[in-house]
Amino acid sequence: MTEKMTSQLAMELEAKYGAHNYHPLPVVLAKGKGAKVWDVEGKEYYDFLSAYSAVNQGHCHPAIIKALCDQAQNLTLSSRAFYNDSLGVWEKYITEYFGYDKVLPMNTGAEADETALKLARRWGTVCKGIPNDEVTIVCCEGNFHGRTITIITMSNDPDSYANYGPLTPGFIRIPYNDPDALEKVLAEHGHKIAGFLLEPIQGEAGVYVPDEGYLKKCYDICKKYNVLFMADEVQSGIARTGKMLACDHEDVRPDILILGKALSGGVVPVSAVLADDYIMMNIKPGEHGSTFGGNPIAAKVSMAALQVIKDENLMEKAEYLGKIFREEMKKIDSPMIELVRGKGLLNAVIIKPKDGKEAWDVCMKMKENGVLAKPTHRHIIRFAPPLVITEEELRAAIEIIKESILSF
Ligand SMILES: Cc1ncc(COP(=O)(O)O)c(C=O)c1O
Repeated sequence: MTEKMTSQLAMELEAKYGAHNYHPLPVVLAKGKGAKVWDVEGKEYYDFLSAYSAVNQGHCHPAIIKALCDQAQNLTLSSRAFYNDSLGVWEKYITEYFGYDKVLPMNTGAEADETALKLARRWGTVCKGIPNDEVTIVCCEGNFHGRTITIITMSNDPDSYANYGPLTPGFIRIPYNDPDALEKVLAEHGHKIAGFLLEPIQGEAGVYVPDEGYLKKCYDICKKYNVLFMADEVQSGIARTGKMLACDHEDVRPDILILGKALSGGVVPVSAVLADDYIMMNIKPGEHGSTFGGNPIAAKVSMAALQVIKDENLMEKAEYLGKIFREEMKKIDSPMIELVRGKGLLNAVIIKPKDGKEAWDVCMKMKENGVLAKPTHRHIIRFAPPLVITEEELRAAIEIIKESILSF
């Protein structure tokens, strides 16, 4: 291609040659640094999506990029047919970091969720003695765990599951934020249920924060019925909500912990499942895997990304800045703001349409003014900047958001 790249051209290329499985905001990014991104024409924006909470450590964090470049010069991929000199070091680091016996590395969040489902099913058959074709996992309404056929089976959003042919058996869906529903289903079917899978805060559903005590109650109910408590912290984990894990807000330690996204600071796809030996050791050589899972670049990048979280106190920052964000959003005097909710720097504003203007229009106006955010569902805007954003940057972005909403 000899044509000069422009935003217009980039969008035309995607429209003509790419599958139309996304509906992006019309902005074409070419550069990112910390909490800011720039489009092809050089216009600057505050990033309030962070690639769906993958870029918690900020765009192109120098320590993470250094780890990437250093490792890329030595060895990028060994596959698991051979050992490599980075994987074991990462495995020791991450299991000590989160306090589990073992880790199983994958690449995307969906793969990590699939792995967790396999682990739970395997534990269910081998340890709990559930007949193989009866093993059941309980999941929640409003969940989002990814896009594989098995995972969309759990979804109650027709956009996710409709017209994708026969789905996977073995799931029961219950209302979210309803411990009584969990108790009821486990009392009735507990003998065949291996695990309860949930997001401690539902991200894609619109940053739906359950009532205080919900996680602990669910954990206790799972223990009562010998069911594994499985937390999908792909979006809510890694300091996003003001603690390392959203489950930490209630001192709940998941039996199976699922991580992705910010595990690499958004640099390369890295996901992981953590569990203790009594769960993990039921999978034997040849029974699960991934060509790229546990590759040396992922290992080095992920170690650097996790270290940044601690070195830069990103948990405390998310907690502190999140409070400011919600307070300031609540102060905006506009009939379009129906509700502000969230934890740490994972927040959402529920938009009440005005004169036919909806969340999408608000996002377009914010884009014009220099803040990027995206609606999730029709009336909800998620606000999740990189956790490295400074208070000054946050306050500047808040002014842009205010001005944009008040312009309607
Ligand atoms: C909670 C949760 N789980 C899993 C996923 C899937 O991750 P990936 O897109 O990397 O497959 C997502 C993605 O948004 C998510 O929010």
